[in-house]
Amino acid sequence: MLVNMRDLLTDAQAGNYAVGSFSVANMEMVLGVIKAAEELNAPIILQIAEVRLKQSPLEIIGPLMVAAAENSSVPVAVHFDHGKTIEKISQALDIGFTSVMFDGSHLPLEENIKLTNRIMSLADEYDASVEAEIGCVGGSEDGSEDIAINCTKPEDAVRFEEETGVDALAIAIGNAHGNYKSAPNLRFDILAEVEEKTHTPLVLHGGTGISPDDFVKCSKTGIKKINIATATFDSVEKSVRDSYNNSSIAGYYDLQAAEVEGAYQNAKKHILIFGSDNKA
Ligand code: 13P
Repeated sequence: MLVNMRDLLTDAQAGNYAVGSFSVANMEMVLGVIKAAEELNAPIILQIAEVRLKQSPLEIIGPLMVAAAENSSVPVAVHFDHGKTIEKISQALDIGFTSVMFDGSHLPLEENIKLTNRIMSLADEYDASVEAEIGCVGGSEDGSEDIAINCTKPEDAVRFEEETGVDALAIAIGNAHGNYKSAPNLRFDILAEVEEKTHTPLVLHGGTGISPDDFVKCSKTGIKKINIATATFDSVEKSVRDSYNNSSIAGYYDLQAAEVEGAYQNAKKHILIFGSDNKA
């Protein structure tokens, strides 16, 4: 069933686990992620980032994501990741996304607060949730930019929460998008301070390459939504490559099945680590 992201994160706070937010690019990935969630009886979030719309147009993949959520036996929120323009955020809301992110992390805090509040008024008309980001997560969603990591200042998180009342807050604690060049050294001291001083469910971007132990530690220290993108794409690609290598692809529909399998295996692995299985 299609649900509001706010409700999933409130339950995750009460149950002390994190919900996986899986980026998808086509129907096969949507089917694979939903299959894992249904098998493990887990709530999940399906998401797509604005920079990916050149490959997967919002007017086509958006309704598909919403329909998949509506037809699922487990709670699924549909989220617009790293929204940059009001135009695309509005389009996602019109399509039926139950959550949108406004990424003003590159802006001065004042400006980020002002624009986040504007998006919150818009999302309110649809009863949709809003995620914002402060500090800078490294890299970029599609690998096109090498943004430097700038860890969130706990006092900024406090002010942001007070002045926006946002539903979910992405923070930067040494995490980065894409595959890490060396193992990430997450700043659990910053995370613990933000958790202590705020009440908003926190979001960890750049999930690919973070160790299971660190995921668990994050999920017990205020992180309630964990974004996974590159690992899904890599898992789908590997599944297809392995299937060709062991000659198990004899036609198009075997190729399609290998894609679904890659997304399914990756989502399953992460749901179990995040502790969201049997929480639907
Ligand atoms: P990864 O590509 O590192 O998994 O990051 C995903 C993400 O944070 C999407 O917003």
